[in-house]
Amino acid sequence: MFFLGTAPSGAHTEPWTFVVVQDPDIKAAIRSIVEEEEDLNYARRMSRQWVADLKPFATDATKPYLCDAPALILVFRQTYSLRNDGKKRMHYYNEISVAIAAGILLTAIQYCGLVALTSTPLNCNARLQNLLSRPSNERLELLLPVGRPHPEATVPDLKRKSLNEIMINV
Ligand SMILES: Cc1cc2nc3c(=O)[nH]c(=O)nc-3n(C[C@H](O)[C@H](O)[C@H](O)COP(=O)(O)O)c2cc1C
Repeated sequence: MFFLGTAPSGAHTEPWTFVVVQDPDIKAAIRSIVEEEEDLNYARRMSRQWVADLKPFATDATKPYLCDAPALILVFRQTYSLRNDGKKRMHYYNEISVAIAAGILLTAIQYCGLVALTSTPLNCNARLQNLLSRPSNERLELLLPVGRPHPEATVPDLKRKSLNEIMINV
């Protein structure tokens, strides 16, 4: 895990905590929280358009991979920390700093021959923060189940934008 913590961050504030969960009971507790909230998300909290846009990916509120994956990495974003004198230390640009760190982590996972799902469980922050005893200055940003690909896994054949659509030479 040499790459963890090597991402650049605003004013070198390192605003991230990576919680690695391998305990089957904690994974089951996480699954239960996420599935309960996702039931409500799909039924009430997400717009009809949002649910319709997800249709091609066949996702729903059932998340067996949260128990099947050997490890879950929960990426928490620290909005601030406390100095030794108790004063708040602001974490500048904490969102983009954690996003860069997560990108490096996903790249490293792929490079190791493993796979991950970039998931963002809606409305689960408070309950997962409580379950994992994370402090109130941290917010859950990503939940990454990590492991080897299932032998029968398939991935959608998605088309990417071409280089000249996304890169502009001036
Ligand atoms: C910021 C972000 C949030 C995502 N949240 C979820 C999620 O909560 N659940 C899920 O199953 N997939 C989630 N995904 C996975 C995307 O649905 C997946 O990456 C997409 O279907 C595949 O297209 P892509 O390769 O262009 O990203 C998320 C991806 C990103 C980047």
